Amino acid sequence: MNAPTAPQCSQAGSTYVEPVLVVGGFVKNFDGRLVLNGLDFAIAPGQSTALIGANGSGKSTLLKCLIRLIEPSAGQIQMLGRDVRALSPRDLRAFRAQVGIVWQRHNLVPRLSVLSNVIHGVQSRLSGPRAWFQALAPADVRGEAMQCLDRVGLADRAATRVDSLSGGQQQRVAIARMLMQRPAFILADEPDASLDPQTGEEVMALLLSLVREKGLSLLMISHRLEHTLEFSDRILGLAKGRIALDLPTSQADAASLRRFFDHQEPA
Ligand SMILES: Nc1ncnc2c1ncn2[C@@H]1O[C@H](COP(=O)(O)OP(=O)(O)O)[C@@H](O)[C@H]1O
Ligand SMILES: [Mg+2]
Repeated sequence: MNAPTAPQCSQAGSTYVEPVLVVGGFVKNFDGRLVLNGLDFAIAPGQSTALIGANGSGKSTLLKCLIRLIEPSAGQIQMLGRDVRALSPRDLRAFRAQVGIVWQRHNLVPRLSVLSNVIHGVQSRLSGPRAWFQALAPADVRGEAMQCLDRVGLADRAATRVDSLSGGQQQRVAIARMLMQRPAFILADEPDASLDPQTGEEVMALLLSLVREKGLSLLMISHRLEHTLEFSDRILGLAKGRIALDLPTSQADAASLRRFFDHQEPA
């Protein structure tokens, strides 16, 4: 496979920055049914990009294809300097360790403590029981997990069983676990979907603050237009298998996004 040529990424204050993600000629079909039909875009580091589109437009499929949880059908993905589609199984595991994922459902282990669940995020770097139970984890791993918990505002709940926390607190534990991976890129698929409006907004604000503080890159999906507008730098819109909208968030408003949705044909 040829290496994709990196499109120019411009950012305020500099003429060129190496993109953290380049997608070229990207196609995904399921059993011959085209879902994504030729996507081309690049993302600069340290940015929050929102992906919007009608239900079934392929947003989740694209996110999963980026780390090959679903195999792409054609095209190129260059992410964090790696040719993702060419990675061997072992290199793919190492690559995925750098990509934090926040789903609508967080897959925490309900009967274990908050701290043990956060420690699980270290599994990309450490394996065995030491990466599973807080009591067996090395002191430096426990210390880092406490810092991650502190970052999401839950240090005082470290010893609590996860299933006794609220939905919003559990999502923050999932984010702390993701921080234990020391990710360079975060993919977030509707992390606010099953939370009440206030809590959902807090979770989105937390993700954006990680982008701002640590220079991480975020590609996120939210079904709430107000979250798309408040927590992104750029908006990409999917329609009919293609990128049909690409604009800085500063140039978007709720009316223009609604117009984008209104012009889509029903799926
Ligand atoms: N594993 C799969 N097998 C077959 N079709 C799928 C699969 N996953 C998603 N699809 C289809 O692909 C389309 C895009 O789905 P999805 O990416 O979940 O959309 P979105 O996240 O934008 O709502 C939908 O028509 C969906 O039914
Ligand atoms: Mg989806």
